[in-house]
Formats: sequence, C-alpha cells, structure tokens
Amino acid sequence: MDIEFVRNQFPALEREFVFMDNAGGSQTLKKVAERISGYLLHHNVQLGASYQVSREAGEKLTYATKQVSNFINASRPEEVVIGPSSSMLLRVLSWCISKQWQEGDEVIVTNTDHEANVSPWTDLKDKGINVKVWKTNPESLELEISDLKKLLNKRTRLVALTHASNILGSINPIREIAKTVHKSGALICVDGVAYAPHRRVDVRKLDVDFYVFSWYKTYGPHLAVMYGRYHQLYKMDGINHYFFTKKDVPYKFQPGNFNFELTYSLLGIIEYFEEFFKHEFPKEKKVDFQEKMDKIFELISRHEERISKPLITYLIEHPDIKIIGRNTADREKRVPTISFVHRTLKSNEIVEKIDDYRIGIRFGDFYAKKLIEDAGLKEKNGVVRVSLVHYNTPDEVQRLIWILKKII
Ligand SMILES: Cc1ncc(COP(=O)(O)O)c(C=O)c1O
Repeated sequence: MDIEFVRNQFPALEREFVFMDNAGGSQTLKKVAERISGYLLHHNVQLGASYQVSREAGEKLTYATKQVSNFINASRPEEVVIGPSSSMLLRVLSWCISKQWQEGDEVIVTNTDHEANVSPWTDLKDKGINVKVWKTNPESLELEISDLKKLLNKRTRLVALTHASNILGSINPIREIAKTVHKSGALICVDGVAYAPHRRVDVRKLDVDFYVFSWYKTYGPHLAVMYGRYHQLYKMDGINHYFFTKKDVPYKFQPGNFNFELTYSLLGIIEYFEEFFKHEFPKEKKVDFQEKMDKIFELISRHEERISKPLITYLIEHPDIKIIGRNTADREKRVPTISFVHRTLKSNEIVEKIDDYRIGIRFGDFYAKKLIEDAGLKEKNGVVRVSLVHYNTPDEVQRLIWILKKII
C-alpha cells in the first residue's frame, strides 16, 4: 500500500504530530473539506424549489445519497438515513420502532457496546419493555453466541450490538449473529462506528436490519448514517411533521433539514477510495464499484495488521502489561484499536507521559462504561487506548514502542 499517496490526502498529517486517537476521531480528507466549502459557497439554497440553483443542489444531494447507499451496498438510496451523530440516529430509531412494541416485549443489549447503542434501548424500560443484557465471557471478554441463544425468545424484538468494540477492537461475527437473531424472529441493530474506518461495510452481505456509523471517524465530517432495511423503515412511524406519511422514507426520520453541505461532502470519501483503488490497481479497469471497495479495504486491513503487529507483540511480551482484548493482530479477528492496562500504573499516568512526545493517544472508558466496570478496570481509570488507521506508518508505531519502553 502506497502510504505516501494515502497521507497526501490528509492535510493534518503534514504537521509533526502522530495521530493515534483515531477511534475518537480520524483526520479529514482534503476532498471532504473542499466539497463542504464548495457546496456552501455555490449551492447553499433551500432544496425543492423550481429555480435552477435549487434544482442543482437537489441533484447533488440525491447523487451523494445514492453514492453512500452504494458505498454500504444498500438495496436502494431510501435505506440511507442521515443524522447528526450515531447516538442521535439510534435514539430516533428506538423512539420510532418501539411505538409498535407492546408491554412485555424484549430487547437485548450487550455489556461491550458504546452507550450509544445501549441507552436508547434500556430507556424503553419506562414503556414496559424488558431489557436483557448479553454479557461477555468474563475471562475472555468475548460475546458468545451460545449465551445469546439463551436470551432470545418469542418476545425478543431486537438485538443491539457492536460490530467492533471501541475498546477491545474485537470484530464480532455479525452475519452469523444476524442469522441466529432472525431465526428467532427478532431484528438486529449494529453499531459499526468502530468498524467502518477499517473494513468494508456491506449491509447486504451482513444481512442486518439496521447499521449505524459516524463519518467523523471515517475520514469525513461530523455526520452519521443509519442504514435501515427498506420494509422495516417503511413499516415504522416516523418522527417528522404530521404530513409526512409512512412512505416518506427516509424523510420521516429526518426532522428539519439534514446537513446539506456535510452530506454532500461524503462524496469526497467515496471518491478517495475510488482513486486509491485506481492508484493501487492501475491495470484493473473493468472492476465494478463493489469489488473496488472490497479490494481497497482488503489492502487497508493488511496494512493495519502489519503496523499493529509490532505493538501487539511488544505489549504481549511486557511482563506488567495486559492487553484488554484479543492477543493478536490478525485482521480477521480485530481492528487496530488496541487497549491495555499496566499492573501498577494507572492508565492516565501512561498517557500523560506520552503527551510530551507529540503523540495523541488517550485513556478512559470511551463511553463503554459497562465493559470497563465489568472488567474491573474503573480504578485503573480505564484503559490506555492506541487506535490506528491506515494512514499510520510503521515508523510511527516504532516511535510509540520506543517511548513506551522508556517510560514504563
Ligand atoms: C463504537 C462507538 N459507537 C458510537 C459512538 C457515538 O458516535 P457519535 O459521536 O456519532 O454519536 C462512538 C463514539 O465514540 C463509538 O466509538
């Protein structure tokens, strides 16, 4: 993978600073910023009018949404719901979908998720919905499907879980889980925020009902997207004004104007991945869009495995360090979001020392509070988290290891 090509697309990487808090927020593509300003400076009008600029703006947004739906391999653009954040979209979903649920219906959440995909469901207790928690194995911190099977029953309406944990980095086998969930007659809602920056999201392959992720961690702006299976979205009540009807998908879930300039800027991300493909595979001219995305993320995942391996090896070999998550860099098993604790030092003590070296990492619970509590890591002030993406280099990782060796 041509790392120089990649890094040249991100102006923030020109400064002398190592960004390793990418699971908190990735750096933004130049193409994204250009599209935001381009839209604001030339097409910032209200949509739906008959005059020329309004029609042009409408066409731009229709095209952007269509490309986003292709990017995640949705069946149709209406399956793409835009919102300000993943947290907000999940709130909208729980509010809308539960309108048709009955008292005594059940929902399952996990103890590894970021709270964004937990509270919207646990708060339904107030409506008489029973909430069950699919807990990780306390030793391995793995979610086991056999435990999920024990929780599912005829009253289960939905299972909410994460594709990759924003602390453990572990990738959950969503397709397999979706099969189990659907067999019991329930729906599955996946938080893909910690997964989408690293791997291909193909909602049809995953066979999920709802899938949410945030663009500010996927090289774009502060905006999020929710995929919803069309007939599920259609069936649901919306949250918009009374004159929006059932068939107004996705508008019934997008009260007020969604952010036009940020939505338009998403094209910059997709264009980046396409150009990246062209750069890496110049001879492959007849490849369709879906295959291009599969291939480019395959390349990204190999690079991520390569750069995270030395760090994981160092952490495994250190007698006072414990990785919180899987002890492997295998790209099938994890994304390069790597968390650890030290036997005697608190997590903040390590991070604060590293701050002096112009490397951005961080400590804490990252809003996956239940996981940190259940793993007994609260008194450590959570974990130290190093979160890499494909623009990080082997040299940056070596520098971090060198500093860790000095301070621990
Ligand atoms: C795994 C995960 N899910 C959800 C969220 C929330 O995303 P947003 O800020 O878009 O609501 C985060 C943010 O850190 C996250 O890491």
